[in-house]
Amino acid sequence: MVENIFYARNDELKTDCSFRPQSYSPPAWAAGLSSQPAVRIALAQRPTPLRRWAVAGMPADVELWIKRDDQTGITLSGNKARKLEFLLADALQKGADTVITCGGIQSNHARATAVAARELGLDSHLLLNHPQPDRNPGLVGNLLLDRLVGAQIHLITYEEYQQRETLMRQLADRLIAQGRKPCIIPEGGSNALGSWGYLEAIRELQEQTEQAQAGLTDIVFACGSGGTAAGLSLGVKRSGWPVRVHAVNVCLHADYFHKKVASIVQGMGAEYSPDDLDIMDGYVGLGYAKSRPEELLLMRDVARATGVILDPVYTGKAFFGLWNELSQAGRARFKGAKILFIHTGGLFGLYEKLSELTPLFEEPQGGWRYGAG
Ligand SMILES: Cc1ncc(COP(=O)(O)O)c(C=O)c1O
Repeated sequence: MVENIFYARNDELKTDCSFRPQSYSPPAWAAGLSSQPAVRIALAQRPTPLRRWAVAGMPADVELWIKRDDQTGITLSGNKARKLEFLLADALQKGADTVITCGGIQSNHARATAVAARELGLDSHLLLNHPQPDRNPGLVGNLLLDRLVGAQIHLITYEEYQQRETLMRQLADRLIAQGRKPCIIPEGGSNALGSWGYLEAIRELQEQTEQAQAGLTDIVFACGSGGTAAGLSLGVKRSGWPVRVHAVNVCLHADYFHKKVASIVQGMGAEYSPDDLDIMDGYVGLGYAKSRPEELLLMRDVARATGVILDPVYTGKAFFGLWNELSQAGRARFKGAKILFIHTGGLFGLYEKLSELTPLFEEPQGGWRYGAG
């Protein structure tokens, strides 16, 4: 019965796509780059807010600012929205009707791609790595949204995930044989084209910083697949902005990310030097998407004190790293004391951590029942 209603309505409800790729002009300081995208699609709510962020316990001489890229839109898609503006414009321009991408089982990027693709009238296929790929993965966090928008989920093991590019190409070939027109978007949307989203974000940030007279000295954010770091570090360098860019890696290690960022930046048509980016290694903790109690505690305290909700996988770890570095004598790695933290999103990752978060909340004195305490 439910199925009949669904199928009857499915055609009526098909996306009438009012989004159209528009021609894109880069900032003057980026105009010479060979990788310049021709089109962009206006998916994100820009500019995202830039504000002072009064977190108690910071050293008195540090001025902390926050850029709310968790508010870029498309169902809280965080930093992915900026990359998808270029990646999906390109897919539409090439006549694609389907996108293929990959990630961990709770991938924010895969979910953001699936939701944005659906808004644009494209189907999506997600290759997600999961320790038990033969089982129903359920409906927790990002997976619920993936499935709500009708993404086709393909589960693979962590070992198989190491061959993700080959697997995505094979899936694309299968879809082509079925008459579809697939377009592959890499892990995290982190290739040269997607990273233009964060190169472009530097233009936005410079305008806002000037208007707010923020005088920023440092930018700090989470790094998972390197695209955000590539775009920001290249944008800062090309525009000659005297701020230092710090990426807190939430997986792997600094060496891997210097190589990854170098290859993205080279793909964008520029040179990369490790001096362009400070990778704040040492905060992976228990591993990718695994949380230490002290990271979760800091997230809870920040939420209670400032109303800003960080996520356990990316922004919580990055902020834990920043907090830790600022607590150390000298704070040598920072250029100055006006620090911008970019909140890159990830809210739905919280729902996977319910059992670890539970002990952080006290029972109310007198119980839960109104009037009993
Ligand atoms: C919420 C969030 N923050 C930060 C990142 C890291 O960005 P990037 O993949 O560009 O390094 C990701 C994705 O990997 C993310 O989902």
